[in-house]
Amino acid sequence: MNLTPKEIVAYLNEYIIGQFEAKKAIAIALRNRYRRMKLEKEMQDEVIPKNILMIGSTGVGKTEIARRLAKMMNLPFVKVEASKYTEVGFVGRDVESMVRDLALAALALVKSEHKEKNKQAINKYVEKIILEKLLPPLPKGASEDKQDAYKQSYEKMRERLITGDLDGLNIEVDLHQSDNDFGSDSNMPPEMIKVQESFIKILSAGQNSIKKEISVKEAKEVLKIEAADKILNNEAIKREAAQRTQDSGIIFIDEIDKIAVPSSAQGRQDPSKEGVQRDLLPIVEGSTVSTKLGSINTDHILFIAAGAFHLSKPSDLIPELQGRFPLRVELNSLNEDTLCKILTQPKNSLLRQYQALLKAEDVELIFDDEAIKAIAKIAYAANEKTEDIGARRLHTIIEKVIEDISFSADEHKGETIHVNAALIHKKLDAIVENEDSARYIL
Ligand SMILES: Nc1ncnc2c1ncn2[C@@H]1O[C@H](COP(=O)(O)OP(=O)(O)OP(=O)(O)O)[C@@H](O)[C@H]1O
Ligand SMILES: [Mg+2]
Repeated sequence: MNLTPKEIVAYLNEYIIGQFEAKKAIAIALRNRYRRMKLEKEMQDEVIPKNILMIGSTGVGKTEIARRLAKMMNLPFVKVEASKYTEVGFVGRDVESMVRDLALAALALVKSEHKEKNKQAINKYVEKIILEKLLPPLPKGASEDKQDAYKQSYEKMRERLITGDLDGLNIEVDLHQSDNDFGSDSNMPPEMIKVQESFIKILSAGQNSIKKEISVKEAKEVLKIEAADKILNNEAIKREAAQRTQDSGIIFIDEIDKIAVPSSAQGRQDPSKEGVQRDLLPIVEGSTVSTKLGSINTDHILFIAAGAFHLSKPSDLIPELQGRFPLRVELNSLNEDTLCKILTQPKNSLLRQYQALLKAEDVELIFDDEAIKAIAKIAYAANEKTEDIGARRLHTIIEKVIEDISFSADEHKGETIHVNAALIHKKLDAIVENEDSARYIL
């Protein structure tokens, strides 16, 4: 959480090429959250986050930046598609559900942290239950010798349990039904969830523990859930999760351009799109949403919106909403050089992915430098000639290039295959030359 902006950018650089402006804006926004927590309470309440609007055509890394951030930062994070809220009614979701989703994400996050912290206690609890099933209990008033012997065999059993020696044995355990999973559909308002939960309680009254024979291996996992329920302080977890949702939650609203009504629509209005924008206003502005964790105030949640804005412009959003995303960053289109770097530099770059996939068949795939340049060049040309789909173009091209190798990989077991420029030109030149075929194939 206390990474400096420079460190955040350095981390993102491992996965995303270029787009420095966007990385910088997000890094600063995150750091400001951290700075805010150091202020006095009164000041803290005043400092509201500056929401960010990322603008860039498709496939240039908007979603990727957000995805990587979430993974790294251990922050409550959700990504939603703005367009899915336009189908209000039975299939659509109400806009507030994004806050409920965020609360659930925070809950899962805090819970797993607490589990990690109490790992030892949880394991001990599980071991104790299993061992008591395996070892007949010591009769009351047993002599000291007997007690010592019991302790010894208990320890021995414990070791065998830990090493997995006993995994194959079957034991009978009481399984308590946990009611944790109910109401995880965040689309439902919390009042409904409560009703549902009480129904389930009534229906399952008296039978919330069932005996079942399972293997020790399974028991280890199953009992962990029960142990966590017993050992962890659920109230404290909920309180912490609510706090973290409010103070460090991030909601990433993707495809926000899809709810803008383009000016080319010439006065025709689209009530469902504008409706979603209006619904978004109070949430982005700061309001209270009731969730499973209680009321969540959205004042300090950071919103990052992203969109390609091909057909519409940011100014086509209703003015109130535009004003709530004061930081605008533009992501650049990818040129030949960047495409080339995207192929090779990121930690899990496309080429590495393909190499790993074929490695599974025991085929070594090597891309020559010239070949990589040729792929980037063709991808760029295809983006220019047809639609610009950014880095996604690389996928279609590489697929085409290694199609044959991929298909007959089993015949090449143990071989090393060089992908050189000649192969690329042979597979693709004819396609690229003809605009029509390029449109269909690439
Ligand atoms: N600058 C970049 N560096 C590394 N990889 C990139 C970059 N831009 C895009 N990619 C890769 O391209 C793919 C698509 O990127 P991403 O999902 O971020 O697109 P997007 O900008 O969100 O597009 P859309 O507007 O269609 O949602 C991802 O697999 C990502 O890894
Ligand atoms: Mg995207």
